[in-house]
Amino acid sequence: MTTSVSERLLTIRDNRTLSTPDLVSIDDLSLADCELIFALAREFHKLKTKKLDLLKGKAIALGFFESSTRTQSSFDWAAKQLGADTVGVGSGTSEKKHESFFDVAQVIDSMNAAAVVIRTQYSGLPAQIAKYTNAAIVNAGDGWHEHPTQALIDGLTASDDFGSLKGKRITYVGDVLHSRVFGSSARLFAKLGAKIRIAAPLTFIPEDVETVFGAEVTHDIEAALSGTDIVYVLRVQNDRGATGDISTLREYSKAYGISEQRFRLANKNALLMHAGPVQRDTDIHHALMTIPESRILQMVENGLAIRKAVLWLLCTGATKSFTRI
Ligand code: CP
Repeated sequence: MTTSVSERLLTIRDNRTLSTPDLVSIDDLSLADCELIFALAREFHKLKTKKLDLLKGKAIALGFFESSTRTQSSFDWAAKQLGADTVGVGSGTSEKKHESFFDVAQVIDSMNAAAVVIRTQYSGLPAQIAKYTNAAIVNAGDGWHEHPTQALIDGLTASDDFGSLKGKRITYVGDVLHSRVFGSSARLFAKLGAKIRIAAPLTFIPEDVETVFGAEVTHDIEAALSGTDIVYVLRVQNDRGATGDISTLREYSKAYGISEQRFRLANKNALLMHAGPVQRDTDIHHALMTIPESRILQMVENGLAIRKAVLWLLCTGATKSFTRI
């Protein structure tokens, strides 16, 4: 690593650490933590895929017990580009042998991993495991619950366009009920001062969403898009049983899919966001993927930078004290 790169990153960091030893929920982060992550991510973004040695000598385990394209490759590359070694521990052999996730986590921990990145179908599992490891636990998506690094990507991407998000209106369209992307993203945008709106069929709206997220809820997609600064499209989570909550994907698409005509109901400089995987012509018309307002691939690019910032901060942050069970 050249001195100037290292010095710039260390200057931005200014000896700061996150106020949490793990990242299992976006609520683990203070506003100052989010601002620090964004500042470092902007610098990492400029460096593209440059190899650094900030985490040289550290080992990071990737426990992807559920499939992933973006998140797994993004964490893996982020760790490697920071100089860490990575090992995949999500092949499922321990599940077949009926070994508990706690025991798997403690085995990895005994090999002195600095961080364990976990994706699982079980909501709340990363938070449980975090109590029993020295390694920092990073939630890379747990069931219907949260996906905090995705939210940080969303927040960084939107702030790069708008600066402050205070008073900006973000409208989430689609399968809110099964979406961990919504779970983290809406919490973060609310923390950053944005106004949250949801447009979805009744069967895709969780109970108490107005109270928990301070969200305005409507089933009228056209009315929802009016006055919106960010249109955030959520995919129908077929893999989490969502098709049982709608008649057919075709009918859903007619009622809630984002077409060019619908997108133009939003504010003039509105952004189009989607965490992926995109279901073209169901969630979103394929022609919208490449419009200038689309941030869909920008979000993937920002993912690498956000994960570098999170891994660097967590792997060199506060030490944990835990209880073996
Ligand atoms: N956005 C997201 O989590 O994508 P993957 O499922 O491909 O990781």
